[in-house]
Amino acid sequence: MFYDPRVALAPPPLRHNPLNTLVAPRPIGWISTISARGEVNLAPFSYFNAVSADPPIVLFAPNSKDDGAHKDSYRNVLEVPEFVANVVSAPLAKAMNETSAPFPHGIDEFAAVDLERAPSVLVRPPRVAAAHAALECRVIERIALPAGRSGRASHVVIGEVIGIHIDDALINDGRVDQLALAQVARLGHDDYTAVEKIFSMKRPKAVGP
Ligand SMILES: Cc1cc2nc3c(=O)[nH]c(=O)nc-3n(C[C@H](O)[C@H](O)[C@H](O)COP(=O)(O)O)c2cc1C
Repeated sequence: MFYDPRVALAPPPLRHNPLNTLVAPRPIGWISTISARGEVNLAPFSYFNAVSADPPIVLFAPNSKDDGAHKDSYRNVLEVPEFVANVVSAPLAKAMNETSAPFPHGIDEFAAVDLERAPSVLVRPPRVAAAHAALECRVIERIALPAGRSGRASHVVIGEVIGIHIDDALINDGRVDQLALAQVARLGHDDYTAVEKIFSMKRPKAVGP
């Protein structure tokens, strides 16, 4: 089939917008933020990725709530332009999912789901103590995306990574052991995958004159 999503997001026989199944797996940024009043927030975002390695830059995209209000993560970065992108390994998947519940503003998801936090080094939001890796970020740009037909709109939050935590136990021969990291990623619907199998390919050498 071919269709124009500006006309319908899920024309028959589709029953759901397939974008999340087509752009997948998506890494999950488990984003901790803090309000000006010091209220800590933690929520997962799979509209998350790295967009530059040098300097390291990542982004995540919170959309607006059904009533049009900003999600807490976005409210917080407007007040304190810093966040931590915690890496989700398979044993943390359940806790990550629990932090996605629509808790009222000001509720600390670390406390709500009984997760230990650890202080960050260079930014104010704390990090997930049990995460094998975490990226401390300073917001360098915010971009408002156009609203969809539902009226909901996303913002892209771009952050320069200024501090990187890696569990030393995962560093093997100068590399991060990806199987040990067992990173969880988002598929479509309620589905996830985790890194359990890896294959490698050497990139082709330059061809031509
Ligand atoms: C795996 C996963 C990925 C998610 N990705 C996003 C996302 O990219 N953008 C978004 O707006 N919400 C996403 N959500 C939903 C938010 O986590 C949820 O709305 C959360 O309550 C937002 O929290 P906050 O209001 O504390 O910022 C995701 C949820 C899960 C479980």
